[in-house]
Amino acid sequence: MCVLSPPQSRRGEGYVIRRAREEDLTQVMEVNYRSLPENYWYGFFKYILERWPEAFVVAEADGRVVGYAMSRVETVADPVLRGLANELGSEASPLGRGLKSLKSVLTQFRPRSPDVGRVGHLVSIAVLEEYRGRGIGSALLEETIRVMREVYDVESVYLEVRVSNDIAIRLYEKYGFVKARRVKGYYMDGEDAYIMVLRLKPLPVDS
Ligand SMILES: CC(C)(COP(=O)(O)OP(=O)(O)OC[C@H]1O[C@@H](n2cnc3c(N)ncnc32)[C@H](O)[C@@H]1OP(=O)(O)O)[C@@H](O)C(=O)NCCC(=O)NCCS
Repeated sequence: MCVLSPPQSRRGEGYVIRRAREEDLTQVMEVNYRSLPENYWYGFFKYILERWPEAFVVAEADGRVVGYAMSRVETVADPVLRGLANELGSEASPLGRGLKSLKSVLTQFRPRSPDVGRVGHLVSIAVLEEYRGRGIGSALLEETIRVMREVYDVESVYLEVRVSNDIAIRLYEKYGFVKARRVKGYYMDGEDAYIMVLRLKPLPVDS
């Protein structure tokens, strides 16, 4: 789909995925505003860009920003966010079932996990409606996962998604994210969220 070209830029059909720059932020805010009810102030986007510059990526097409994915790195104790536990049951996915049986075999041989871990948090991802369905969302997510694994060396990536957002859920599942928790009334309008998690490192002994 996309060919990796150096450095940190990918080219797809009619679009380029690259790191965000400060001068992109007004357009990123426009994409956010037109795509999602969860909107943020300029300083929030700028803070994330300055603090985790590699984890803020944009898609450019026709000379403008048409999509973005922004993430941050957090240190957490919550085993669900770390991909060590699943409140919806490991039966939630075939991957979860496979991991469970693998875990039972490997448990005796692996080291104990520390109490906290570094995780990636995909805060927001969106593509302008007229540019959807061309692989741009997939490319943004792929680049986010690559950066989280190779640059920030996190143990997992997690995100929140509306339980009704079938298209986004399908996109995340395509990359191995599993539904791990349901948060009641997470959104301002009262809708529940799923927390979806992608474990990037091997499971430790005590998970
Ligand atoms: C979710 C979103 C970013 C996907 O962007 P996109 O550029 O359309 O994504 P892609 O073209 O790479 O499609 C990715 C996957 O999404 C799913 N998808 C995309 N369009 C779909 C549609 N019309 N119906 C069902 N599934 C669809 C498919 O699984 C697709 O993968 P596939 O083509 O390999 O089957 C985009 O729909 C969006 O901006 N939505 C509004 C904002 C939003 O909901 N963000 C997520 C908040 S958690």
